[in-house]
Amino acid sequence: MSDRVKVVVTGAAGQISYSLIPRLVDGTVFGNKKVDLELVEIPAVLNKLEGMVMEMEDSFFPHMGDINITDNFADAAENADWFLLVGSIPRGIVLNGKKIEERSDLLKVNGGIFIDQGKAIGEKGKEKAKILVVGNPANTNALIGHHHARNETQLWMAMTMLDSNRAKSFLAKKASVGVDEVTKMTIWGNHSPTMYPDFENVLIGNQRGADVFSDLQWIENEFIPGVQQRGKAVIDARGASSATSAAKAALDTVRAVEHKTIDGDCFSAAIVSDGSYGIDEGLVAGVPLISDGQGQVNLVRDFSLSDFAKQRIQISIEELKSEKEAVADLLD
Ligand code: NAD
Ligand code: LMR
Repeated sequence: MSDRVKVVVTGAAGQISYSLIPRLVDGTVFGNKKVDLELVEIPAVLNKLEGMVMEMEDSFFPHMGDINITDNFADAAENADWFLLVGSIPRGIVLNGKKIEERSDLLKVNGGIFIDQGKAIGEKGKEKAKILVVGNPANTNALIGHHHARNETQLWMAMTMLDSNRAKSFLAKKASVGVDEVTKMTIWGNHSPTMYPDFENVLIGNQRGADVFSDLQWIENEFIPGVQQRGKAVIDARGASSATSAAKAALDTVRAVEHKTIDGDCFSAAIVSDGSYGIDEGLVAGVPLISDGQGQVNLVRDFSLSDFAKQRIQISIEELKSEKEAVADLLD
């Protein structure tokens, strides 16, 4: 196994990346490997990245390898192991005189970015490269990227780890336990207000969530909408979308893929569906996953889903189908 890993980060001058990039090289994600960084931005803000490089050098990270800044994604993609696709516009800002309210309003604004990036990743990224789409609408952006990559050895994911971390935090508070006692959390479907946080299959210690959370009023009226709308709540409070928690979730996803999943646990990300759990083949939907720690990520296939869960998941799948239709022109 190589003792170096090459990581491409887009949107490297943005707020998520400012929190994300230093933690990629602190030894907690890739262990003792040297981490070579390709930081990609649009030309207008490349100079900001020069400052970022200075700060990275001044921080003295023993695991940092080469660091390069560029506006040429295709060059950056050459032989890369990981792609963290953060670069895109967040909601909450005013664009062409209209405030962008929902992540799906970003479909046309951001979707186009993922055509050329997908092609470059498919052609130039390593066989078995891992791609995590953070930029919204993450699932459909990943669908576009995967479509254009045309490389089935690589793994495309859209980030639902932030939603999973949020859901764990809500449930830990409700059950009066530490967040580390909440495991096996899955976010099903889209990273959007239709996502379904699976409170039934989650484990609180050794107990199934279905047996712990009997207050279904709270589940339906507070927990599910609370997780679904947490991104908006942060935007309303902060005047900007979540950044440090999003960076932590991206790092958690990379860590979950790079390290073997503890027996009985799983992690959450959206991947290209093979039709399992009744999710239409080809959609990028949140599901439970495990990693063997050697680069292989597998779907957990034996979750039992209640009728309530199935009905909620279907709502999110219908939304993913309509997002796919809305970007049909970006899919050839
Ligand atoms: P930001 O505006 O601070 O930074 C985005 C950066 O992307 C900017 O510096 C911009 O110049 C750059 N960029 C735009 N187009 C690019 C391109 N083609 N190539 C390279 N860089 C490009 O935004 P942010 O707060 O860092 O958020 C980034 C994205 O992540 C947003 O779409 C946001 O909605 C999304 N997000 C997703 C999650 C999630 O859970 N999936 C969580 C939080 C934020
Ligand atoms: C989040 O969930 O915090 C991000 O997707 C940002 C947003 O637009 O909500």
